[in-house]
Amino acid sequence: MKTLYLKSQDAEATETAAKILKNGGLVAIPTETVYGLAANALDPQAVKNIFIAKGRPQDNPLIVHVSSLEEIPPLVEKVDPRLNALAEKYWPGPLTVIMKKSSLIPNEVSAGLDTVAIRMPSNPCARAIIKAAGVPLAAPSANASGKPSPTKASHVIEDLDGKIDAVVDGGECSVGVESTVVTLETNPPTLLRPGGITPEQLSEVLGEISISPAVFEKLKSGEKAQSPGMKYKHYAPTAQVTIIKGSFEQFKKFLYAQKDTVCAVCFEGEGKYFEKYIEYGKENDGLSQAHRIFDALREVDAMGCARAFVRCPISSGVGLAVYNRLLRSAAFRVIDLDINIPVIGLTGQTGAGKTTVASMLRNMGYAIVDTDVLARKAVENAEVINLLKKNFGEDIVSGGSLNRSELAKRAFSSEEGSRTLNLITHPEITRLAVEEIHKAEKDGAKAAVIDAALLFDSCLTYFCQKTISVIADEETRLRRIMKRDSIDRESAMLRINAQPKAEYYIKNADIVIDNNGDIDGIEAQIGDLI
Ligand code: TXA
Ligand code: MG
Repeated sequence: MKTLYLKSQDAEATETAAKILKNGGLVAIPTETVYGLAANALDPQAVKNIFIAKGRPQDNPLIVHVSSLEEIPPLVEKVDPRLNALAEKYWPGPLTVIMKKSSLIPNEVSAGLDTVAIRMPSNPCARAIIKAAGVPLAAPSANASGKPSPTKASHVIEDLDGKIDAVVDGGECSVGVESTVVTLETNPPTLLRPGGITPEQLSEVLGEISISPAVFEKLKSGEKAQSPGMKYKHYAPTAQVTIIKGSFEQFKKFLYAQKDTVCAVCFEGEGKYFEKYIEYGKENDGLSQAHRIFDALREVDAMGCARAFVRCPISSGVGLAVYNRLLRSAAFRVIDLDINIPVIGLTGQTGAGKTTVASMLRNMGYAIVDTDVLARKAVENAEVINLLKKNFGEDIVSGGSLNRSELAKRAFSSEEGSRTLNLITHPEITRLAVEEIHKAEKDGAKAAVIDAALLFDSCLTYFCQKTISVIADEETRLRRIMKRDSIDRESAMLRINAQPKAEYYIKNADIVIDNNGDIDGIEAQIGDLI
């Protein structure tokens, strides 16, 4: 199908769009929040086509858009007086209200629920089209399911060209994130999705409201979503996104510590410090961040970056909506750089006794963060597994579990493969390491020690005030490896040769522990250090 491109300023645009809608077609229309993919809400077949065009899961209900209050009574069981109070203050505008539906609402719209979500947009073009169509319009965001929502007509075309009848270009959406969704069917009313109308504004009319846990947290597997849309991975560019909490100074240093190219998604005026960057609004200004965020996420992909680190937005006011969307695009990966205990990096050659040193430090009251353990945990993360499947073949997961040896075989067969594996797993390993450091801080540990084989090749050095390398003579290491792993001399030699030479450990570390002798020897050395 050829998608017709209409401009909202053109005299016939409204009439043309309305005619297509009346005939059961699909038209992407601008609203103040994001572009919506509209169809006649009372026409089940037209509504079905929305799901097909977007690739949207069938169990995710749609919002019904109206242009005046008079259109609402036939759509709901009864008009709740609180709806009128909300409408008085916030409609037309970025607010969606859920109520018991009437039998006029097809199941295709409500996805089998007995409720319906209704919104009256403020965008003049949207209102004119609803009015001219003469029917309420069901409209989800006009993106391919899972992608960032569209805030420009070009975003709609990127995702849906050839799959819908028309798009009406009304310029950039002013708010930039989807409407606030509140249900009146719980007591007290529940905020299901934060948006342009803040929780405080809702409370002014509704009094006490509760906030759905899904606003901040991943649904546990098996848990039922109050709002089905909350359970899907969402708003995600192709790039892997990680949210970074902390000051700009910390963000900058952390990005400089990365070993591979990453895109800095930061606030206005901060981009100049990075090779690749995208700015999204002003720091501490949720409105300007909301306006830019989805476009910024799409730009990350346009730049061809595989990884993006995003400055954390404020989580109050409209910023709450920005934070909520970013959490989903980052698959809930947040790294908090604000660490208040000393952190020591520990590395060393295989067989040199890094593990012995680690257990000594543990006995001295240090929390040990073992990155080998974290690397195994990182590949249990659902997003990481998806990326691994995409890069190394769907069949590395069989019977629901990851085939680790097959993954290792495919990844380590080439330098490119190892690099890809690292790119995918490092953000999650880093997140887990930082989570353990924060836990150590809470538990009152003296310091945390990051134990990592290739410490100097990772961004983990960023966290370390001091680094320790444990080294030993080749002959000593050979003996220890043969004994530890019950292998012959030749196999032990292979392992040794696969690692960097002693210089690497010596030149990069602040402190070098020479471990050729007995335990007392190291104990004395550590004692001196601390
Ligand atoms: O700003 C917006 O709301 C945009 C513009 C186009 O109006 N629309 C939009 O629609 O964001 P969509 O489909 O992308 O998101 C609708 C959200 C989903 O999370 C969905 O699960 C929820 O609203 N929803 C719709 N009907 C519901 C219902 N009856 N009960 C619970 N949640 C519902
Ligand atoms: Mg959506």
